[in-house]
Amino acid sequence: MPERISPAKGLTGTIRLPGDKSISHRYALLASVAEGVTRIANYSTGADCHSTLSCLRALGITAEVAGSLVTIHGVGLDGLRAPKQDLDAGNSGSTIRMLAGILAAQPFTSRIAGDESLARRPMGRVIEPLRAMGAEISARDGRFPPLEIAGRPLHPIDYTLPVPSAQVKSCILLAGLYADGATIVREPMRSRDHTEIALRELGADIRVERRAITLRGRPKLTGRDLEVPSDLSSAAFFIVAALLTPQSSLTIQGVGLNPTRSALLDFLVGMGAQIRIVDVEQRNGELAGEILVTSSHARGGVIEREITAALIDEIPVLAVLGAASEEGLIVRDAAELRIKETDRIATVADNLQRMGVRVETTSDGMVIPGRQSFHAAELDSFGDHRIAMAFSVAALAADGPCVIQGSEAASVSFPEFFTTLRQVTA
Ligand code: S3P
Repeated sequence: MPERISPAKGLTGTIRLPGDKSISHRYALLASVAEGVTRIANYSTGADCHSTLSCLRALGITAEVAGSLVTIHGVGLDGLRAPKQDLDAGNSGSTIRMLAGILAAQPFTSRIAGDESLARRPMGRVIEPLRAMGAEISARDGRFPPLEIAGRPLHPIDYTLPVPSAQVKSCILLAGLYADGATIVREPMRSRDHTEIALRELGADIRVERRAITLRGRPKLTGRDLEVPSDLSSAAFFIVAALLTPQSSLTIQGVGLNPTRSALLDFLVGMGAQIRIVDVEQRNGELAGEILVTSSHARGGVIEREITAALIDEIPVLAVLGAASEEGLIVRDAAELRIKETDRIATVADNLQRMGVRVETTSDGMVIPGRQSFHAAELDSFGDHRIAMAFSVAALAADGPCVIQGSEAASVSFPEFFTTLRQVTA
């Protein structure tokens, strides 16, 4: 579906965004294998988190949805049932990779697949540790979905992640729930820790010491009421749009500010962005607060090493800001971008070039000179939600109306994106 975006002078008003995608997946998965009922408020409205719910339903879970309130009737660690058909993870890498950890321990065989984009995403990173725990898994060409997982009794491992990936870490921890002893996951770089926090909230015995996470197997997890903070990665599009347009003053309420996610805010402030954070509070172990952002001149910067890992989902929209910044943006160590929902180095560069913006791509990053302007163009999401939203932001700063082809991709994480954007740019 094409979406037409006209240039905007600024973003104003107060908004509240849907629940965090990463946290919603984890709450749904853990609530299902906990005992008792969990009510999850502000569950993500994105298609990805609903793919997780459909997979869980196919495994015998009752999950009721009333707007953004999701009620899950947990069945305990051993209560899942064999699915009657293939599980469909849709576009969601988080669903297939994290659920694989639970499926690996079940007394039945399951197959999990997804859409065309997911079928191209590498699964070796979860297959290898799960096999080391005793699971039997086969995949197309040895490493792509669909995965066929024959559950087995699992044993604990002590595993050092070869890639900094929270999905892989979470997959192993979820499998570790079923292992007969203590599973240890060591991270070379800190990745988002929502799984660790949620496990602790539901009663697991989990310890985090520097970069090592130790989880004791077979805990009793207990369902409870949980509330998901709004998604900082969704807020990122509005924050950058507000910075980029000259007359903005925007407030975004209840945004998740977990320190393993908030590198975005530090990076932007380091670039000269005027951002204030107020009313910070903690709920279910997760920080949330209000973000106030006003139009600012961004200096530009370099994203590399562990900063790259911490900002990985935000790089498409930061690339847009980089082109308009004083000194431009350099992105390094970002080979992971090539294996996201699309090859985001290629799809970002393609759209920037359509707008007349110069960009040089490398195998693991890009170089975007600063002080460039955006020309009106026909843009393409390439079926990737973050590309659809990042280039809607670029369109706001263009010299004429732009069209985003495939704009419906945004609904993977943020179905209300265009409505909210119209509301704050009206
Ligand atoms: C996610 C982890 C990241 C991120 C993805 C969500 C998660 O992926 O890019 O959007 O919820 O754990 P990786 O684990 O592949 O780094």
